[in-house]
Amino acid sequence: MKKTPAASRVVMTETVLPGDGNPVGTAFGGKIAQWIDVAAAIACQRHCRERVVTASMDDLHFLRPIRVGMIVELRAQVNAAFRTSMEAGCGSRARTRSAGNGSMCVRRS
Ligand SMILES: CC(C)(COP(=O)(O)OP(=O)(O)OC[C@H]1O[C@@H](n2cnc3c(N)ncnc32)[C@H](O)[C@@H]1OP(=O)(O)O)[C@@H](O)C(=O)NCCC(=O)NCCS
Repeated sequence: MKKTPAASRVVMTETVLPGDGNPVGTAFGGKIAQWIDVAAAIACQRHCRERVVTASMDDLHFLRPIRVGMIVELRAQVNAAFRTSMEAGCGSRARTRSAGNGSMCVRRS
């Protein structure tokens, strides 16, 4: 059966708590990387229906600061599947509690 990238899509929402921040009041990059890793892993598991591990991460770009207290929405999906491995992409947008549309803050492939 043919599987589409959309079928693996994951939307994960997190709040940046004070413990997720750094001394300048923005999110600790390692925490964002953790959330990205989890979202991408869930997308891969949805695709292959097996347990997965992360072999490598190509790019991780922090485009704008994400402040403590913001809400972060991560969207991941499988972009390509090979023999036993998959490639997933993940982007995230951050917004304040009152804002509507957030802006793209992190991109990973
Ligand atoms: C990822 C891992 C399983 C690959 O093991 P391996 O013995 O090199 O396996 P293989 O050589 O048979 O490769 C299996 C597939 O992984 C791919 N792969 C291996 N290393 C890779 C890397 N660094 N980046 C991207 N793909 C990789 C191979 O291209 C191959 O793909 P294909 O089957 O679709 O052609 C192994 O390196 C590992 O267990 N790493 C630790 C993972 C981990 O602990 N992650 C952190 C916690 S989730």
